[in-house]
Amino acid sequence: MPAHFTEEDFQIHRTLDSIPGNWSAKTEAPSNIALIKYWGKKGLQIPMNASLSFTLSRSKTVTQAEAVRSNSGSEKITFKFYFEGKRNKQFEKKIQIFFKRIEPYAPYLNHFEWTFRSKNTFPHSSGIASSASGFAALAKIIIQLEQYLFPGINRDFLAYKTSFLARLGSGSAARSTASGIQIWGKHESIPGSNDLYAIDFPFPLHPDFHQMHDWIFLLDTATKTVSSTRGHALIDNHPFKPGRIQSVKKQLDKLSIALQQGDTETFGQIIEEEALTLHALMMSSHPAYILMKPETLDMILKLWNFRKQTHAKLYFTLDAGANLHLIFPQKDLQNAIAFAKQFPEIKIIKDEIL
Ligand code: PMV
Repeated sequence: MPAHFTEEDFQIHRTLDSIPGNWSAKTEAPSNIALIKYWGKKGLQIPMNASLSFTLSRSKTVTQAEAVRSNSGSEKITFKFYFEGKRNKQFEKKIQIFFKRIEPYAPYLNHFEWTFRSKNTFPHSSGIASSASGFAALAKIIIQLEQYLFPGINRDFLAYKTSFLARLGSGSAARSTASGIQIWGKHESIPGSNDLYAIDFPFPLHPDFHQMHDWIFLLDTATKTVSSTRGHALIDNHPFKPGRIQSVKKQLDKLSIALQQGDTETFGQIIEEEALTLHALMMSSHPAYILMKPETLDMILKLWNFRKQTHAKLYFTLDAGANLHLIFPQKDLQNAIAFAKQFPEIKIIKDEIL
């Protein structure tokens, strides 16, 4: 079982003997797709339920940081954030909140003036969660600095602290600081799982799941009408909240067993139920909202029909948006190609699971 760390463990009380004049780093972090969804939170970025995700291998954020020692000894971290070459004030606002939250855990950041330059390897508004990879990349940079300033800190500790920090930027980012299958949130039958940071799936994965694909069909690239932050908040007084908390536990147990046993059909059934439940929760919120598009529903029905005829192991999941993620094992690559032929006009981002 992995070592367990508390919030207190991640705090820094040591002072610095010397501060370098300047420091720079470059890092990248992958995006992830949740199969068991995190939807609803308690307190400061504590998930209402445990979630499980696949880490994507091609869709990443690459971030470069330059730090120059600041003479002002500022209370607040001063920084500029450039996204795809342009200063982005909207992101700066979100990052400012993140920096405020992580201050007890990374007080050394205040000694510098920062410039961040960030870009994604996937198109903007593509339905791939860029906040997950974006905050994960920032957390990695911060931990690289911690390692530089305080050499000799245990590697496991730093890996978990990276996920811990990323979580304070965006919940799903906690699952983007490592690779493979990530679990975030306390779940009884998963040893080591906890609400503060993500851990690797701790059981042997059946070889049938070793080479999985995620093809993202871009059905809608407009900005979401309801943000995830608002969506999480709408779960607070949701009439189905108690039922969701109960049922998602069983779903995670079933998925965990399917992943160990190579039960692709149960895997597919669970991930599709999860996607539809996420959207059903949105549609039954107060106020209600719908993020799927007619094209999403059309594609789901066509997929079910295709599966009935071919018995192909192609399954879908959805994020908080309209784009369909087609998840399938390597063995079904030809089937995926045949299915995609029905939609020649739709752009597809072809990713794999890391
Ligand atoms: O990390 P957030 O606050 O953007 O929320 C992510 C929510 C979902 O993407 C819908 C589900 C998940 O677990 O990633």
